[in-house]
Amino acid sequence: MQDSIFIGGGGEGYGEKQGLKLKYANRHGLIAGATGTGKTVTLQIMAEEFSARGVPVFLSDVKGDLSGLAAAGSPDFKLHDAFMDRAGKIGFGDYSYQAFPVTFWDLFGEQGHPVRTTVAEMGPLLISRLLELSEAQEGILNIAFRLADEQGLPLLDLKDLQALLVWVGENRANLSLRYGNISVQSVGAIQRRLLVLENQGGAKLFGEPALELADLMRTDLDGHGRINILAADKLMASPRLYATFLLWLLSELFEDLPEVGDPDKPKLVFFFDEAHLLFDDAPKALVDKVEQVARLIRSKGVGVYFITQNPADVPEDILGQLGNRVQHALRAFTARDRKELRLAAETYRDNPRFDTEEAIREVGVGEAVTSFLAKKGVPGVVERTLIRPPSSRLGPIDPGERKRLIDASPVAGKYEVLNDRHSAYEILAKRAQQAAENAEEAERREAEADEMEREFKAARRYTGAHVKRSTSRKSRSNARGDTVGEALGKALVKELRGTTGRRIVRGILGGLFKGR
Ligand SMILES: Nc1ncnc2c1ncn2[C@@H]1O[C@H](COP(=O)(O)OP(=O)(O)OP(=O)(O)O)[C@@H](O)[C@H]1O
Ligand SMILES: [Mg+2]
Repeated sequence: MQDSIFIGGGGEGYGEKQGLKLKYANRHGLIAGATGTGKTVTLQIMAEEFSARGVPVFLSDVKGDLSGLAAAGSPDFKLHDAFMDRAGKIGFGDYSYQAFPVTFWDLFGEQGHPVRTTVAEMGPLLISRLLELSEAQEGILNIAFRLADEQGLPLLDLKDLQALLVWVGENRANLSLRYGNISVQSVGAIQRRLLVLENQGGAKLFGEPALELADLMRTDLDGHGRINILAADKLMASPRLYATFLLWLLSELFEDLPEVGDPDKPKLVFFFDEAHLLFDDAPKALVDKVEQVARLIRSKGVGVYFITQNPADVPEDILGQLGNRVQHALRAFTARDRKELRLAAETYRDNPRFDTEEAIREVGVGEAVTSFLAKKGVPGVVERTLIRPPSSRLGPIDPGERKRLIDASPVAGKYEVLNDRHSAYEILAKRAQQAAENAEEAERREAEADEMEREFKAARRYTGAHVKRSTSRKSRSNARGDTVGEALGKALVKELRGTTGRRIVRGILGGLFKGR
């Protein structure tokens, strides 16, 4: 087993060790099975094994129960005897309880270090997917990104994108001449989607400091790979955000990591739980992109493991690339179930000792039909494998333990504070202010041409006190919630002076909240 990670025992009486070869671990994999059949524990023991071999791991914790990886199992645990029995059956002589080095991450910054990226890094394709935009709307988003590029407007956070769209909306007559029709409805629709995303907590994902991929690829002083756990329980309430974020992460890894061919062991193993969310009514362009990333990321030394209830959830082109498989039990209640079961069974190399289809139906909890890539990367014969018990704790750690681990992590403090750098939002606000000042200046000059007394009266109309009253009225009416749009409005109101300025503010807010 020197060159493999230990998965469990197969053969007669489960006595033959089954392993996944480290040098083929970058050829991706699948963990599938009906609910309650053992997928999460399989993911847990695989993460443990990779970590112990110095391979960093990234996984999402959908139910919160994988945080137990950070703590050792215990002889007082109710399943202690069951675990020992299981270890004995599969000849797992050196089974012991052990904790693993874990780094916690959380898009919402509550259960782990904040994970952020910038709007520009995520790019128009993924953001369109995130916002579920129509083709026409996606076209406009593409134009907006291009304009930001041309105009030197950094797109970091959601308010940058919102300010940019306001600007596009206001200048759409000019822009349409250059880029084709930019309809006010489409711009408004994108703005509304952005508000929805913001309400789902999406604003937290965008900004700086952005995640450095090297922080996902750390090993500890003992040479153990760190296990990066993304808190995904709350995130699952926004499945689109969850799937898009993970896809973004994969494509970043793909773009940033150097080519390594086929390394002795992977540089990182990435587990994609609830993978069906990625493919549910996904447009063909996106599925193609996933297929492409999966195919190419292998040579960067990254293994991707999809976890899902039914292998039929994964598009065929991608399924065909998943060389290492742990198939837990599938149910066969309906005709369709039976058909999918048969199709799943057909993708394995038969074992003369048993019928694959029957085995997939019959395996018990924590047992699976497995097939791993063997010599020359050829799929091995299918095996009925009793999966090894976990060394770390089965079930979650408590919030106190989590907090201590977060505070002591090697990246503690690095991402905690948001850095709101000068970007599109501030630049556009400044431009608007400049425009207002210019207009005011023009008005002033005009007035100067008039006689002294009229000029004096005109100047009094624009005093600060007058503006202030209207400012405070505005912020009171906006005090319900502090959305980015409202904050933008407030900031502009603060910065702008004079009647021209107020007109601009109305224009911006009018555009942003239209159709609300
Ligand atoms: N390898 C294993 N060793 C020991 N016990 C196991 C193993 N796999 C599963 N079990 C037992 O089965 C239970 C259910 O397993 P698990 O939570 O992994 O199922 P699941 O397929 O992830 O379910 P769900 O779809 O509901 O998330 C575990 O809590 C544990 O008690
Ligand atoms: Mg599970």
